[in-house]
Amino acid sequence: MVNISESAIENIGKVLNDPKRPMKERFRALFSLRNLGGETAIKCISECFTDDSVLLKHELAYCLGQMQDVRAVPVLKSVLEDKNQDPIVRHEAGEALGAIGDPDLQALLEKYQNDSAIEVAETCQIALQRLKWIAGRKTSEEENLSQSRYASIDPAPPSEVADVEELRNTMMDESNSLFERYRALFSLRNLGTTESINALGEGLKASSALFRHEVAFIFGQMQDERSVPFLKKTLEDTAEHEMVRHEAAEALGSIATDECTEVLKRYLHDPRPVVRESCEVALDMSEYENSPEFQYANTLLSVQA
Ligand SMILES: [Fe+2]
Ligand SMILES: [Fe+2]
Repeated sequence: MVNISESAIENIGKVLNDPKRPMKERFRALFSLRNLGGETAIKCISECFTDDSVLLKHELAYCLGQMQDVRAVPVLKSVLEDKNQDPIVRHEAGEALGAIGDPDLQALLEKYQNDSAIEVAETCQIALQRLKWIAGRKTSEEENLSQSRYASIDPAPPSEVADVEELRNTMMDESNSLFERYRALFSLRNLGTTESINALGEGLKASSALFRHEVAFIFGQMQDERSVPFLKKTLEDTAEHEMVRHEAAEALGSIATDECTEVLKRYLHDPRPVVRESCEVALDMSEYENSPEFQYANTLLSVQA
């Protein structure tokens, strides 16, 4: 961890909270704050929930969840409860609460497991099952399951099954709980074979938009060119839920081939702000992937300079 003064953290917070800055700079500031962690970083991130950008606000919630710090619970709780916030933002707040995994959150998540916004309801159902799973873990192998090699706190641990066919069937069987289906998803991700990638691609036909957005998110984590045709089709489908198209755009940004850049550029002016802002941020990420820069979120260096 870098030793950095409170005022330097606050300066990064100013970049994040400045609506006149380009979205890509604000995203870099956000990721710097996430990496730094601590009370001041959480405060700077929390202040930004009054912003107009749904994309930025959902990312605030995501980052707060990944920081795994109970001090972020009050703000995440208020975002989940605020029906004036977009369902995408509320969904991410629910997921973040699940990632923090505090057993005291059960009553709150139960309250929203039947929310009128389906993205929110489904997220809370998964988060509740994650809490239950955490409480029931007995062996150290089970403890290790929740540690993803992608350095992310996933909404569900991977399934212990390693057979692609069986995982695909579990994932596509809509009579299974979303938690079980998510477990299959993360197991397919961890396999990382052509067969598992193709099975994940099929997951983009599931009826739940939340489920489809998770598939696209996973493709972004894997950064595997074999997923590009699926992601491209998703971003190009203007009838698809914007939350899913957003994840597809960011995944394309992290895979960062010429083909990805070409498709992202085409949607830089999409009528949906969430989609066009995602393309802007994604192109910034792919510039980083293709450059010798040391760290994507290097706001720290530019603010200090
Ligand atoms: Fe999400
Ligand atoms: Fe997202």
